[in-house]
Amino acid sequence: MSIIINVLTLFPAIFYNFLSESIPAIAQSKGEMQLNLIDIRDFSNDKNRQVDDYPYGGGPGMVIKPEPIAEALKFINNKTQQDQIVYFTPQGRLLNQNIIKEYSHNSEITLICGHYKEIDQRIRDRYVTDEISIGDYVLSGGELPAMIFIDAISRLLDGVLSDSDSAKTDSHENSLLGCPHYTRPYEFENMTVPEVLISGNHKNINEWRNKKAIELTKKIRPDILEKK
Ligand code: ADE
Repeated sequence: MSIIINVLTLFPAIFYNFLSESIPAIAQSKGEMQLNLIDIRDFSNDKNRQVDDYPYGGGPGMVIKPEPIAEALKFINNKTQQDQIVYFTPQGRLLNQNIIKEYSHNSEITLICGHYKEIDQRIRDRYVTDEISIGDYVLSGGELPAMIFIDAISRLLDGVLSDSDSAKTDSHENSLLGCPHYTRPYEFENMTVPEVLISGNHKNINEWRNKKAIELTKKIRPDILEKK
């Protein structure tokens, strides 16, 4: 099933290079992913195309006004109660591979990228169905989180990855980090490749990879192992 992703942003140009390279570009050219970039400013009713204003109650930063976002949402579907509307904010639930997998099965998602401070709370209350954070740090806007989200979804869509880089061996599949990888040359700066990988014995290779993945996860991310 293919997916349509609508992105509401004040900076559509940020997305162009990213979407025209690598896996997101393949997902689009195969017709598995359709990206609609929507400039929130196009829905401003201000003669200077301004979309932000001072916060009620005072304080630093500007807030994106509700009307241009609501108008942009209406424009997308000619209705405002769309199924999935995601807003990126450090206040959201933390993004992980399971969330990405769930969203990859949707037929249409709309992403809202804030900038400056936040967007008006009333958009969040009325329209947003999910709020997602990509980590406990603050970015200047939701554009990078949206690109991360799109990239992670695009590589799960049907036929986008070739067998050789199948998503099944990724970190975070089976709640484990991935195992170490090696390629030629066999010897590099006095370091050689583990013998098992050149043994040709696939049972032993799989056992070794699994063992290494568990070791690495125990050492670096015991928290995800506990969830298993
Ligand atoms: N916007 C600003 N910082 C963010 C973060 N950490 N995650 C998602 N959206 C954000």
